[in-house]
Amino acid sequence: MKFFIDTANLDDIREAESLGILDGVTTNPSLMAKESISGEENVRNHYAAICEITDGDVSAEVISTDLDGIKREASELVKIADNIVVKIPMIREGVKALAWCSANGIRTNCTLVFSAGQAILAAKAGATYVSPFIGRIDDIGWEGMTLISDIAEIYAIQGFETQILAASIRNGKHIVDAAKAGADVVTCPLSSFESLFKHPLTDSGLEKFLADHKQSLSVAK
Ligand code: E4P
Repeated sequence: MKFFIDTANLDDIREAESLGILDGVTTNPSLMAKESISGEENVRNHYAAICEITDGDVSAEVISTDLDGIKREASELVKIADNIVVKIPMIREGVKALAWCSANGIRTNCTLVFSAGQAILAAKAGATYVSPFIGRIDDIGWEGMTLISDIAEIYAIQGFETQILAASIRNGKHIVDAAKAGADVVTCPLSSFESLFKHPLTDSGLEKFLADHKQSLSVAK
């Protein structure tokens, strides 16, 4: 399973990269706004800066919602770096754009996916990645992770090659559950990855090992 970081914050991306386990980055317009990145040139420069930190796939989201606009944005975004993946929303024009990108060798991430039917459309249109939003489904009282296992089952039966990118992942349990449910990729904030490190028995076990080591040194003296 691949690990993507879901942020536009360069420090967090550098930190995740330094862990040696980072496979890519996802962004969205809200995450760019959070970093106060606006204006075509600034956005472009920011994606270029992200692509300098990682060789992994970097999802850059289009703003247009019409086919011509999405095609124009996609064509510009992929000029930034070889590892740019164009993120396109699951709307009617988006599906057309996914098919156009696929036919023109542009890799895509179909975003804002909330049902297995939408995931089938994305795969049919040749999306490289499909992004079901787990946390947002949980937010409305449904079981988000069921969507990952449903899509994984359907894609396996149908032989679809689109990779399942579990998005809107909010904690370590989500990561583990997405791995069990058959996600190819998880994307989440740095804090969710960091929560995987933590276990009280690791902390107490290490404390005891180090204390015993220190004591054995004093006995040997
Ligand atoms: C990633 O591609 C999505 O944009 C992101 O995971 C959404 O996460 P959120 O629901 O926490 O905003």
